[in-house]
Amino acid sequence: MAERIAEEKVNEIRQAVDIVDVIGDYIQLNKQGRNYFGLCPFHGENTPSFSVSPEKQIYHCFGCGAGGNAFSFLMELEGYSFQEAVLKLAEKGNIQLDIDASSVASAKSLPVDLQQMMEAHELLRKFYHHLLVNTKDGQHALEYLLNRGFTMEAIEKFQIGYSLKSWDFVSKFLTKRKFPEDVMERAGLIIKREKDGNYFDRFRDRIMFPIFDRTGNTIAFSGRSLGDDEPKYLNSPETAIFNKSKTLYNFHLARPQIKKLQRAVLFEGFADVIAADRAGVGNGVGTMGTALTEEHITSLRRNVQSITICYDSDNAGIEAAHRAANLLTEAGCQVRVALMPDGYDPDDYVKEYGEEKFRNEVIDSSVTLMAFKLLYLRRGKRLQNEGDRLLYIEEVLKEISHLDKAVERDHYLRQLANEFSLSLEALKEQQKQVFYAEKRRNNQKGKGAFDPPKKHQLPKRADHLKPAYHTAERRLIAHMLRDSDIAFKVQDMLQGNTFNIDEHQAIITYLLGFYENGHIPDPSAFINFIKDEKLKRIVVDIEMMSINDELSEQEFNDYIKQVLNYQKMLKIKEKQNEEKEAERQKDYAKAALIAMEILQLRKSL
Ligand code: UTP
Ligand code: MN
Repeated sequence: MAERIAEEKVNEIRQAVDIVDVIGDYIQLNKQGRNYFGLCPFHGENTPSFSVSPEKQIYHCFGCGAGGNAFSFLMELEGYSFQEAVLKLAEKGNIQLDIDASSVASAKSLPVDLQQMMEAHELLRKFYHHLLVNTKDGQHALEYLLNRGFTMEAIEKFQIGYSLKSWDFVSKFLTKRKFPEDVMERAGLIIKREKDGNYFDRFRDRIMFPIFDRTGNTIAFSGRSLGDDEPKYLNSPETAIFNKSKTLYNFHLARPQIKKLQRAVLFEGFADVIAADRAGVGNGVGTMGTALTEEHITSLRRNVQSITICYDSDNAGIEAAHRAANLLTEAGCQVRVALMPDGYDPDDYVKEYGEEKFRNEVIDSSVTLMAFKLLYLRRGKRLQNEGDRLLYIEEVLKEISHLDKAVERDHYLRQLANEFSLSLEALKEQQKQVFYAEKRRNNQKGKGAFDPPKKHQLPKRADHLKPAYHTAERRLIAHMLRDSDIAFKVQDMLQGNTFNIDEHQAIITYLLGFYENGHIPDPSAFINFIKDEKLKRIVVDIEMMSINDELSEQEFNDYIKQVLNYQKMLKIKEKQNEEKEAERQKDYAKAALIAMEILQLRKSL
């Protein structure tokens, strides 16, 4: 059973941490007026509609409606339980909790088999590392790594290991520790032999690179062969705990650096990430032998906007860099591309030219996206040949048409004019033609020219279409949230009636309970007090409305009237139906009575 964390503790923690710091660990926030803004981590977007209020200690997204306090943020983003979120924030706020962390209920409370998968990976990571560093069995592997330029420091930091040249060592090792074989097979660590149903080890005689998730749990391995064995890198298969298209190598270690430098460097291989790290480039991450996916981009974009792509400088690498650059740009990233001499990858480069040169001449000398595209378009063309040259100019003009800024377009047009001794005027004219031609073609495809992709964008909610009582109720709640006297006054004025919208009524019921328990107005504390997710969001939505600080008697009465009038209107409708029914039955006396009642109701409106 999970221990309960005392409410006073929770309050102490809530006061010790600033929501801006908490959220700032995940997304880039910029101050604008009283609030901070950033890109919403809960839905894909290119323009910030996610706001954080330091005064109220709450966040809210105008795009998707997400909202809450620091606790709900962690619960929603990390999938934590409330208690886990409390634990995390206590740590951040340096608040001592007198409970055993391991007793805290996990929201995911991982199914037993997944827990076993994680534990087995954890255990094997340590074991493989031990074999590499401390044993004779691993000595040749260690020598191979050191020869390649890996340092002991890197081997430690990245927890690199070695798997024995044995068919069943791991299999036995795990069984002895009571890990069920079928679960270990599903974890990708052992493989079942068709013939006799026996299990054998997936990784044998390989350098083992543990793959960590965002929080540093080992979830998979990639094993590099020592010789020319194929495949060069043998990866864990996709499992319940490992999804290649989501995982970025080194993300958990690089994230603090990425936040600090506000830039990430994207590599193709593990060896590259590790070599770059040695060269002092600690903000590098790598894909797992797959092309960059939407999911990779989403998790990168949550943390940074500026990305340097540093892929192999061979044909495949340049193609992949071009593709990645376009995808990242579409997702709203600022992209630069770091280039190396033909045929090098970052790891080769560091080894041959040294760490300093890698930093200065590759990473720090990265080129803009447009400059990279110009180089990209040039490849395979012989520009002294007229046909190739015209094709190149045409392609460049197309790229220039995609630039938003006139200054930039002008810059590249001039560059092009200079290089090929062309008239700037003529080039400008042609560029316009290219622009409109593309625009027409895109329109025919039923798509606006160069519209930013709206894939994930949610429609803005149309509050102005809501009935008057809706707004009145929200305004009242907004004031009730700030002032307990107003809350009780509203209760009196309603005279046993309720708000028309069930959720609003539920919120005021909670709120009155909150005040009756002796709490003072505090948005973030109230959010902890409400248990229902949907209600929390509505409260945040209401908190973020702008209202006058003072509520005049007149305004107050108007709101109450609007709330009550709606109920009277409903009553009138009901009576009107009764009246019609009475007339149909030719009961004119009854109809007249009802008509009087309706009149009364109308008057009270
Ligand atoms: P590379 O072939 O460029 O390897 O593959 P590398 O990073 O330069 O490795 P070294 O220097 O030869 O040791 C790039 C990435 O593609 C994936 C791995 O993630 C590798 O880091 N890959 C490559 C595989 O998954 N399997 C393979 O067989 C080869
Ligand atoms: Mn390499």
